[in-house]
Amino acid sequence: MNIIRAVKEMQAASAAIRQSGRRVALVPTMGALHEGHAQLMRQAREQGAAVVVSIYVNPTQFGPHEDFNQYPRDLGADEQLCEREKVDAVFAPSNEEMYPGGTGGAHAAATWVEETVLSRRFEGERRPGHFRGVCTVVAKLFHIVQPDLAVFGQKDYQQLKVVQRMVHDLRFPIEIVPAPTVREPDGLALSSRNVGLSAAERAQAAVLSKALRVAHDLFTEGEQSAHRLEAAMQRTVSLAPSARLDYAQIVDGETLEPVTKVQSGNVALIAAHMGKVRLIDNAIL
Ligand code: PAJ
Repeated sequence: MNIIRAVKEMQAASAAIRQSGRRVALVPTMGALHEGHAQLMRQAREQGAAVVVSIYVNPTQFGPHEDFNQYPRDLGADEQLCEREKVDAVFAPSNEEMYPGGTGGAHAAATWVEETVLSRRFEGERRPGHFRGVCTVVAKLFHIVQPDLAVFGQKDYQQLKVVQRMVHDLRFPIEIVPAPTVREPDGLALSSRNVGLSAAERAQAAVLSKALRVAHDLFTEGEQSAHRLEAAMQRTVSLAPSARLDYAQIVDGETLEPVTKVQSGNVALIAAHMGKVRLIDNAIL
């Protein structure tokens, strides 16, 4: 497995793979890799492509009071997981490689990529600048790795839709492949941030997926009122004393606009604080 740190080297490695007649699949990550990320890598391999995993904790998608400094980092363990998953190359650049001149100050990056419609609500509203950071770094990764396809998890539903929209609008010749959410046995969606939960919080954290299941079951039983599904999700989360609900909303799966009458293909989005950790999850109805 090739471990690459420089942009030029990654561009050359990617060109060499394509010259050999293979497609390139990119799996962008921020590291602290878990089974959810491994699932993305397998899905990339199943497409018959050479798999490039990028590992980069992107500073520009974190707000000033968010967990950039606390975000878990373990490049050694990450490389082992990539090796086990038979990844062809890991791209783990420095900040200087990704943002020459830095992200603040006189010589800082002056060019950004911003999606302005799907980013407006939910995570974009709570985390101003978050999706600008995501789109900018993903666009950079696309230019550096030049993949034929890129795999993104449905776990971050809004991110998936924002990236798909960016690819469409900017005419990137890249297929975005969505991957299903990998969960713990109790339903909690795997996340690099789960390590920040105390034992008591961890025990309650499955309340998000439980709320989504409640909404899903109500819909399956014929309930079409988004308001009633949302109220049921709120009630479920309120049973966990450590959970502070941020939002629980039924939206159109493409536009992310809230709906009043629920239809198949709508998505239940949920976010809550558990102690110092902010968790998000979703379910397609
Ligand atoms: P990160 O949180 O590391 O996630 C990397 C990818 O793994 C994303 O596509 C995410 O949706 C997916 N993922 C995370 N948890 C998952 C789970 N439990 N099941 C399936 N897939 C899961 O998302 C980011 O990094 C960053 O914003 C990034 C796109 C890399 C840009 O910096």
